[in-house]
Amino acid sequence: MGTKELKTKDKLLALFEENKGVYFSGEEIAEKFSVSRTAVWKAVNRLRSQGYQIDAVPNKGYSLSVDTDILSTQGMGKYLRPICSKLKLHMLPMATSTNAWMRQQAEAGAPEGYAVIANAQTEGRGRQGRRFYSPADTGVYMSLLLRPGKYSPSQSVKLTTMAAVAACEAMEKVSGKSAQIKWVNDIYMDGRKVSGILTEAALGLEDGSLDYVILGIGVNAYPPREGFPAEIRDLAGAVFQQPQDDGKNRLAAEFLNRFMGYYAEEESSDYAKEYQARSLAIGKEVEVLSSVGARKAKALDVDGDCRLVVQYEDGQTEALSSGEIRVRLTQQGGLT
Ligand code: BTN
Repeated sequence: MGTKELKTKDKLLALFEENKGVYFSGEEIAEKFSVSRTAVWKAVNRLRSQGYQIDAVPNKGYSLSVDTDILSTQGMGKYLRPICSKLKLHMLPMATSTNAWMRQQAEAGAPEGYAVIANAQTEGRGRQGRRFYSPADTGVYMSLLLRPGKYSPSQSVKLTTMAAVAACEAMEKVSGKSAQIKWVNDIYMDGRKVSGILTEAALGLEDGSLDYVILGIGVNAYPPREGFPAEIRDLAGAVFQQPQDDGKNRLAAEFLNRFMGYYAEEESSDYAKEYQARSLAIGKEVEVLSSVGARKAKALDVDGDCRLVVQYEDGQTEALSSGEIRVRLTQQGGLT
């Protein structure tokens, strides 16, 4: 495909996304973009081959169906607020892992604010070496590059805290349901994990300062067509059960809106309180899992540094950092 056609397709998608359900004649579009009617027709077909449902009605023209929910930078752009104006979005139909993709960009010097969004991942990465199931069309898989010069490496946990709160707020806004955080950064709705966050940092070799951070978020927007794989079937859920107009584009954009708001106003914003208020663990019996085994405790609080404060049966308290320790809720029906 030539560059001109590619541009026509992208411009046409932006026009359609801004005006879902509105008909534009081929002639009108051709005139608007200064291209031939054939170029318009090709661009329409190209969008159709990407899954867009474009109706064509004689004497009316072409229109994008209002039910469309395909992730695109144009689709997200409708919902992004000015706080995101410096972000540069890049859409991939498929990635191995958006975090891995972004790491390459970061190493090549990409600036803060570069975000990649994929429609599917073949090797989606989760925390502690786990996989993140990332099937096509039903999720949002996104990585954002940050170069937070003012943060020390130990402060980078704050970014995860902000991201978890931003994810909850975005999901609540778009779905109308409430979302909670299972320490450290798993998001639950209706008792099921619907989203996970993986923050990866790189340190400068000379002074050990924070060089860049890649904030990766995966959201199960819809249940996968073939269902979740057996190993996560009892745990995983989705934000929506029914098709939504722009559900994925809105989730992705609202997450960026919220996160960038917290990131810009880190010192004055109360994301830590929001995190505490949404924490599933506080007040519950937990098991602290480490290399030496499981120890029963009660979760008392999440402190300002996002550490989970627990009290063991012998009365001793400990503030747990996310590291290698896992916490299992012994109440709340099998969340691990
Ligand atoms: C977890 O639940 O353990 C964290 C999951 C993080 C998944 C996201 S999807 C986008 C980004 N790219 C990845 O490979 N992982 C993160």
